Amino acid sequence: MRHQVCIVGAGPSGLLLGQILARAGIDAVILEARSAEHVLSRIRAGVLETGLVDQMRACGCGDRLDREGLVHHGFSMAFADRTHRIDLAGLTGGRSVVVYGQTEVTRDLMDARAEFGAATVYEAASVEIHDFDGVKPWVTYRKDGVTQVIDCDFVVGCDGFHGVSRASVPEAALTLYERIYGTAWLGLLADVPPADEELVYARHDRGFALASMRSHSRSRFYVQVPPTERVEDWSDQRFYDEFRRRLPEAVADRVVPGPSIEKSIAALRSFVAEPLRFGRLFLVGDAGHIVPPTGAKGLNLAASDVHYLATGLREFYEEQSSAGIDAYSARALARIWKAERFSWSMTAMMHLLPETGAFGARMQLAELDYIASSEVASAAIAENYVGLPY
Ligand code: FAD
Ligand code: DHB
Repeated sequence: MRHQVCIVGAGPSGLLLGQILARAGIDAVILEARSAEHVLSRIRAGVLETGLVDQMRACGCGDRLDREGLVHHGFSMAFADRTHRIDLAGLTGGRSVVVYGQTEVTRDLMDARAEFGAATVYEAASVEIHDFDGVKPWVTYRKDGVTQVIDCDFVVGCDGFHGVSRASVPEAALTLYERIYGTAWLGLLADVPPADEELVYARHDRGFALASMRSHSRSRFYVQVPPTERVEDWSDQRFYDEFRRRLPEAVADRVVPGPSIEKSIAALRSFVAEPLRFGRLFLVGDAGHIVPPTGAKGLNLAASDVHYLATGLREFYEEQSSAGIDAYSARALARIWKAERFSWSMTAMMHLLPETGAFGARMQLAELDYIASSEVASAAIAENYVGLPY
């Protein structure tokens, strides 16, 4: 089989890129290791920057998002019995974020792709990428016990942190930057009303907590836990008890402790691979970088990568220019490093980390107190939270 582009991975970055390319008349196949149901069962991000919202609209996938997404003009930072609201709109000239689950983004993109009739191979096993240092890369995979071959112009690795794309690059060609925080988030999803109208990020001496939501009737709550913790050891009751202890009293009182639909643990990590292009292979989204979740940047960064690469691929096919794909890695990395910085600083400011200690705790409180007392400092948080320009 021949396609112009072979995308590995049908997470949000692979599906978004696939949709933009399909609408531009560029033929891209997507190979996904798991089933569509499995991809949709993963509960992950929930806060979308307007850059991603605009991309969804531009590729014909914005209708449900516009109907059901919750526009948030602010969020709160709670610490030391105080709550400071970051007025996103007031501090950024009217900008905001949209609360809409990654699962829903993925579902909308999957539906649009099916409607378009573009090729997606689910449960594609043993994907291998060949000859991407030349102009004729090819990809093999196994489906129903048979090995299949795809010839293409470009391969795009949208296959997440554990995917095959980055692993296919010779070690000497990659520089890796990593920080493991030695802590994790335990997340719980429940069909209960949100604890507050906006998100509440709480720094507490027992550890971080976050009260988030997916809709007016579905909540997503998180507590910081050691990375060695097991989900099975956290009954819903234990979760809610710990969660409420870390929140401001007024918010804790409004938590409705309904049964969990999902509970999972994710370790906190910062990671960047450089560069993001190796001949005819590109890395996009979590395949190239990871942020700790504080600040909700992971999915949004995947979307800005897609924007840069899709622009470059369109220039290649529509204008016979390589300028955009040549600039992809540097353009994407410039934005990635700023989001890495923001996520790292929000994490360091609000979590009890192995190295925090008594001095570190005072530094956290001083920083939060400074932000609460300074419009300039609050504006810097707001500017990053709504998303830096593409
Ligand atoms: P992924 O969503 O990881 O998609 C990669 C796809 O590639 C998957 O479908 C996978 O099955 C497929 N794949 C992997 N290997 C292969 C292979 N060899 N062959 C074919 N296909 C393959 N971000 C936030 O902003 N807020 C959050 O709360 C948040 N929570 C998270 C919780 C967890 C547990 C994780 C792992 C991430 C979380 N993130 C969060 C980050 C955010 O979800 C990611 O940044 C986002 O999913 C990146 O999208 P992606 O398409 O690049 O990668
Ligand atoms: C969610 C996750 C985040 O990391 C965050 O900063 C805000 C919200 C969420 O899953 O709802």
